[in-house]
Amino acid sequence: MKKLLLIFSVFPLLSPINGMSQILANYDEDKVPALILSDPFVSEKGRLIQSITDWEKIRRSEIVRLFQDKVYGQIPSDFEAISFEKVNETANPYPEIADLEEVNITVKRNGKSHTMRINFFLPKDGKGPFPVILLINYLPKYADGTLVDEAFWPVQELIRRGFATASFHAETVAPDIAETFQDGVISTLYPEQIGQANGMKALGAWGWGAMRAMDYFEKHSKLDSKISVLVGHSRTGKAALWASANDPRWAFTYANESGCGGAALSKRKFGETVGAINRRFPHWFADNFNQYNEKEEDLPIDQHLLPGLIAPRSVYYSSAKGDQWADPKGEYLGLQLGSRVAAEIYGKKAAFDQGFEDLEGPVHLESVGYHIREGKHDLTWEDWSLFLEFMEKVEK
Ligand code: GCU
Repeated sequence: MKKLLLIFSVFPLLSPINGMSQILANYDEDKVPALILSDPFVSEKGRLIQSITDWEKIRRSEIVRLFQDKVYGQIPSDFEAISFEKVNETANPYPEIADLEEVNITVKRNGKSHTMRINFFLPKDGKGPFPVILLINYLPKYADGTLVDEAFWPVQELIRRGFATASFHAETVAPDIAETFQDGVISTLYPEQIGQANGMKALGAWGWGAMRAMDYFEKHSKLDSKISVLVGHSRTGKAALWASANDPRWAFTYANESGCGGAALSKRKFGETVGAINRRFPHWFADNFNQYNEKEEDLPIDQHLLPGLIAPRSVYYSSAKGDQWADPKGEYLGLQLGSRVAAEIYGKKAAFDQGFEDLEGPVHLESVGYHIREGKHDLTWEDWSLFLEFMEKVEK
């Protein structure tokens, strides 16, 4: 508790970083500015937020609006029709253990339509209903037509453990290219978003894709969509978090190494910064996010407010020691502070007592969990298996 108070008290800011350090990433903990972070439990009008009703009616909506306007942009959810069509284009790589459904999801709005594709495996063993895990995959579609890269999306192991699992490629919703990201769902279905300072960008569009996959899962007779998991790594970890903040149908949200604009606190300016991400990936975040390039201290929110938008549903973060660009400590702090909503508003056993430097293994609490592993930036089996361990504990 002492530590948290320290973080929320007001410190003088360090002087603004100069032009050089905007380019060179900081990896020195001593150069991290003192943090002034907004209090999750005080509303814009100064009201103390202590009850579920006040959280959900007042403070939560304020925070959603700020993330929407200043960071991620909108995820419009209206459309006129949605339809699902099974197409059988690819040979099932695991015919002994799983059924494969390749599904085209077509959404219509204002006379136009967009079709995205999910690749979906259901266990052959057992009748279900099966819990379902969706991975937002950003690796380009495999040129040889393969649906699965087992190192990244361990379908066989998930099936053996009794899960149904699906993925979609980000590019079937919005290309991950600055010049063409609008040439998917944005220009076809939501053209009025283009040019708005808080208009939908690629991360929001990928989140929208996850919601449409969930529309399919909800109608599927063999699925228990109440035990549903949304998984994203890195850029799609950022998208998964924003999607889940907007869509309460996900019981678990797992963001692996999601870093800047995902799990990590922006105001630490450690590793990737807001300016660095906006310049390299101008198509990911709302245009308004550029206002905070090299001015993170001016942000009216920070990423510690994101886990609270998902509470009381479960949220899991993981980091890799060799992925300093994503700022593992900033990811941990974001969750440690963010889990206060689950603990203090919803009464979950979700209080993180350990400091980042004292961690000795995964922290698996009632609705929040974290691990850090050796190695580089990647989504590995070690990450998946630790997350699944957490999930089992929560489900018990
Ligand atoms: C880049 C980017 C990160 C992102 C990562 C990824 O490194 O700077 O913000 O998370 O790509 O998606 O792998």
